[in-house]
Amino acid sequence: MSKVRQHILTRLSTASAAISGDVLAQELGISRAAIWKHMDALRKQGADIQSHVGQGYQLCSDFFNASTLQAQCAKHHCIGKHIQHFDSLDSSNREAMRQAEAGAEEGTVIFTDKQSAGRGRLGRTWHTAGDALALSIILRPPLSPEKVPQLSLLTAVALQQALSQYCHDIRIKWPNDLLINGAKVSGILTEMRAEPGLVHAVIVGIGINIKAPEEGWPSDISQTVSDLQSCHKQPISRLQCASSVLKSMEQWYSTYLNHGFAPIRDAWWQAHAASGQKVRVHDGQSYIEGIAQALDDDGALLLTTHHGNQRIISGELELLEAQAA
Ligand code: BTN
Repeated sequence: MSKVRQHILTRLSTASAAISGDVLAQELGISRAAIWKHMDALRKQGADIQSHVGQGYQLCSDFFNASTLQAQCAKHHCIGKHIQHFDSLDSSNREAMRQAEAGAEEGTVIFTDKQSAGRGRLGRTWHTAGDALALSIILRPPLSPEKVPQLSLLTAVALQQALSQYCHDIRIKWPNDLLINGAKVSGILTEMRAEPGLVHAVIVGIGINIKAPEEGWPSDISQTVSDLQSCHKQPISRLQCASSVLKSMEQWYSTYLNHGFAPIRDAWWQAHAASGQKVRVHDGQSYIEGIAQALDDDGALLLTTHHGNQRIISGELELLEAQAA
């Protein structure tokens, strides 16, 4: 999108009242006729811009665009300093990794409306279907590579808090799925470029199901899925949801850099659907059953099983019956 249109969108989306064409024309050093043409082009791209006689232009709906989001992140120290929005990509994680390797700054966020090769955990495909958000955040944390899984847990906590405004009973399932009534509404895929002892870049990829596709979910999804709209009465704005997610990520990342993992672990454990409960984990080869006792500093789940304590570092968790009090 051109710099002129970005300026117009930023001004319209942050103004509390209509802005006159004269003001915008002066700010941009162009004619009022040129402003009119840009408004027309923005409307054709989907922006709901109303003109009020004698007052000017007003942006009326939530037109998802990077300029507005970036303006909403203006006070952040890190997350959302640079935001890009694509109509379509292979995978926002791949694009973020390409940009990270080319030197993109920490806090850069890549959004895409569609993904032709969206990826999930454990080698699965991720579908960006219906109304959805797919985004990837570039981080360059001062961490050793073994600590990077902590960032996935941090992201789960940030999402749980941000998405609770739509559904108060949203829970985390180890390690970092977000569930409503046991069905998945959001997933996180964290990838990194590192060498021994040194992280170059971490890509935190986030997929959120906002509203189910009218034709139903794709048939090859193996997990039970849901969407935020199914538990929220008002229509959900993708723009507002994205803005809340970035704000929450900014707050939790700053907490992590200043205070370490302990506050993240506490918040995670509080929000975890299976804390203190009976679970079964499939680690790719076998099933392990036990009581979820704690989360350790590397993000491993500690289980008490019939064969003693076990430390689970990866796998798919299933919640069995709740423990009697
Ligand atoms: C999971 O399996 O739960 C993780 C899903 C992560 C999906 C997101 S969508 C944005 C980003 N780009 C990808 O290709 N994957 C992540």
